[in-house]
Amino acid sequence: MPSTTATKPNSPPAEPAAPMRELEAIGLEVAQLPGGQEAAARLAHLAGRVERFVAEHEGMAEELLSVYEQLGAVFEVTRRLPEVHNEAQVIELFRERLRRSFAGRRVSMVRQRPGERVWVDRAEDLQITPWLAELIEQVCAQGAVRVETPPTGAAGPQVVEVMVAPVRAGNTLVCAAVLSRPQGTAEFRACDMNLLETLIAFCGDLIRNHRLVHELRETSIAMVRTLVTTVDQKDEYTSGHSVRVGYYARLLGARVGLNQNELQTLEWSALLHDIGKIGIRDDVLKKKGKLTPEELAHMREHPTRSFKVVQAVPQLAGALDGVLHHHEHYDGGGYPLGLKGDEIPLQARLIQIADIFDALTSTRSYRGAYDWRKALDILAEEAGTTVDPHLQGVFAALIRERLEHDEGAWRAMLERAERLRHNWEEEEEEEHRCEYQGA
Ligand SMILES: [Fe+2]
Ligand SMILES: [Fe+2]
Repeated sequence: MPSTTATKPNSPPAEPAAPMRELEAIGLEVAQLPGGQEAAARLAHLAGRVERFVAEHEGMAEELLSVYEQLGAVFEVTRRLPEVHNEAQVIELFRERLRRSFAGRRVSMVRQRPGERVWVDRAEDLQITPWLAELIEQVCAQGAVRVETPPTGAAGPQVVEVMVAPVRAGNTLVCAAVLSRPQGTAEFRACDMNLLETLIAFCGDLIRNHRLVHELRETSIAMVRTLVTTVDQKDEYTSGHSVRVGYYARLLGARVGLNQNELQTLEWSALLHDIGKIGIRDDVLKKKGKLTPEELAHMREHPTRSFKVVQAVPQLAGALDGVLHHHEHYDGGGYPLGLKGDEIPLQARLIQIADIFDALTSTRSYRGAYDWRKALDILAEEAGTTVDPHLQGVFAALIRERLEHDEGAWRAMLERAERLRHNWEEEEEEEHRCEYQGA
């Protein structure tokens, strides 16, 4: 945590308070009375004590107000935390709060572009002069909040005082808070420095947490990606199947109103739904002709095998329903448990539609790919027997909407799913676009 430099240069000596001026005047009068010297000395001593009491009282009141302001700011930021989802939003939240606490003063969050030494304002509304850049550099190196009075014009027109604080996530510098005070506004005081110090420390901790969560998510995604690639490599005909099923399932899930967390879990479930095929013999998995009853039974073990693989990862517990039940049929004729209708978890019903649609539109060892219209027709025939009729209708409408009037859209959709196999980051961009568009 940065330490506060509470001393400020060029502070004028404090004027005596009104009660003190009165006591001084009485002391002068008493001293002029016969034998009044001793009484005047005692009065001066008393005046000194009163002065200390008054100063202490004022200091305590100021400190109390400052603590109250800090608590209020921390409380408000905490209340708004559910609104922030990334680092930039965390910084913006604190900038907003600082602007309210330091009304009349300009609040900027400045950072260095990667690989550059030049400081830039995130909102691009602060002119960073050489004097200011030097000050920011020093403050970030020392890790302490500092208040400085710039030479005239050195920090921009009208700026008569500047307060700077570094924002650190652990040992890493994230940015710096720069507060500049125009002429005619109240001076920065020690309690302002304390407030800024509290808020930037909180901001830094939150950013650190966000980074840890992000790292954890990246690790999980890398793990899922490795597992999915392993299945893909086992059978060239199903290459990319899991990613496309994840893509379609996510589109459908968003359309039926799943929230972001549910969509993420749905996608992971879809990505892993066939992972159990790792344990299916190659002569069965790649067989071109009809499977014998024994081979069929072996093939039908794959959802249970997928379940056992995914079950070993506690963080993926939410994805188990789709993995285990994606071959259940709406009329109860599926496997492994023969669940019926709404007994089949929603996650599994969503994945099943995506799974069948992708299987139909992909080339298999035993047939060519159907075009998307034919695949939707076949899915419609399966409504109520194999697939959930309501979800089938929603999916058909969704796909038609996207593809009906644009001949190139189908190819673009496949290419997009293909790109996701290699770059999960794009998926995140799409997610944010969807949020923005209210999709
Ligand atoms: Fe499957
Ligand atoms: Fe599948």
